[in-house]
Amino acid sequence: MSEARSRVELMHGVNLDMLGRRDPSHYGTITLAELERQVAGFARDLGLELRCFQTNSEAQFVEHLHHLPGSADGVLLNPGAWTHYSWAIHDALEIAAIPAVEVHLSNVAARDEWRRVSVIADLCLASVAGQGVEGYREALVRLSKELDG
Ligand code: DQA
Repeated sequence: MSEARSRVELMHGVNLDMLGRRDPSHYGTITLAELERQVAGFARDLGLELRCFQTNSEAQFVEHLHHLPGSADGVLLNPGAWTHYSWAIHDALEIAAIPAVEVHLSNVAARDEWRRVSVIADLCLASVAGQGVEGYREALVRLSKELDG
């Protein structure tokens, strides 16, 4: 019998701790604490165990990724602006080598030109954007299918 893989890490990057103070037309009015609470509920519904992490330090984000194997079976990540240029995070995600799904609250494809690039997309099973908090549910469903398979 194969062991259940159900441990999911939710990682938020730079400025996501400022949710609630950011442009509501892109991010709504939800705070990070409330978002994490809702995503934990989505995870519970799917039989997944969620652990949450946020940092404004790129180095800490990278080191957290380094330590994921062994403690998480999959990762949901919203690196914020780092998404668009951090090759260091790309490489750390590659080293982590666990199933990953990228998620963004806003519709990055319909905003500034520079937000259309994601340097982590090639390492992710899927990228979900523009659906607010609901997008995290879709991302978790995608990840759970991978973990079940
Ligand atoms: C974001 C989109 C990024 O372009 C932006 O820099 C963020 C948040 C999102 O969730 O929509 O900080 O990742």
